[in-house]
Amino acid sequence: MYLKGENISFGYRKDDLILNNVDISLGSGEVLGLVGDSGSGKSTLCKILAGYEKNYQGTVSIDGKKMPSNAYNPVQLIFQHPEKAVNPRWKMKDILNEGHVVSQDVLSSFGIKTSWLERWPNELSGGELQRFALARALSPETKFLIADEITTMVDAITQVQIWESILDIAEKLNIGILVVSHEKNLLKKVCHEVICLSRINNAGLYNELAFRDMQNASLGGMVPE
Ligand SMILES: Nc1ncnc2c1ncn2[C@@H]1O[C@H](COP(=O)(O)OP(=O)(O)O)[C@@H](O)[C@H]1O
Ligand SMILES: [Mg+2]
Repeated sequence: MYLKGENISFGYRKDDLILNNVDISLGSGEVLGLVGDSGSGKSTLCKILAGYEKNYQGTVSIDGKKMPSNAYNPVQLIFQHPEKAVNPRWKMKDILNEGHVVSQDVLSSFGIKTSWLERWPNELSGGELQRFALARALSPETKFLIADEITTMVDAITQVQIWESILDIAEKLNIGILVVSHEKNLLKKVCHEVICLSRINNAGLYNELAFRDMQNASLGGMVPE
């Protein structure tokens, strides 16, 4: 199964294109890194791929089919700031189980303590809240996870724990993951390949496949220090 963005062009203003003919493809079970300068449009591309931003040109599809708009979204987007993705007036147990009942296995894997379920979002740290956001997003119906700087605000040990849990569950469910990060060590550890937005943006100049060949030749070299 493939999530594809083809010929994606987008600007928040008409005269200012941020994405220009971007092609990107993410396969089931694949862990693909995405890097690029701050402000280059990574988060914008993530929103488009997950169906949050509709006003773009080009196509987003899964195995050639357009994304369902009235069903569970098989492309789940997780942001850097989990507090923005939860309703502050809901208890964590209600936030967690809003879409489906999250299994005990997933809760344990993310180290979510039973006592946290009775808390309000503002009674948890950013890292704890992010575990809930991920546990909720990794439902059996999820096919792709878009992780936009999701562990930027946590310490190194928490980052490792969170990513181990994600990769473990994603492998079991054969989920494809797009990892947006500027942390070279993280990308090296978790990604099969890393692509750079400046290369796939303006696809008329750079061909993604050619870039991937280069990338495979030297994974570290393409990720900015
Ligand atoms: N909602 C918005 N309205 C207008 N401009 C935006 C909006 N969101 C982002 N931008 C602008 O679009 C550009 C790309 O932003 P973004 O996709 O967040 O980049 P990145 O994630 O690579 O840092 C930036 O110049 C940013 O200021
Ligand atoms: Mg961003």
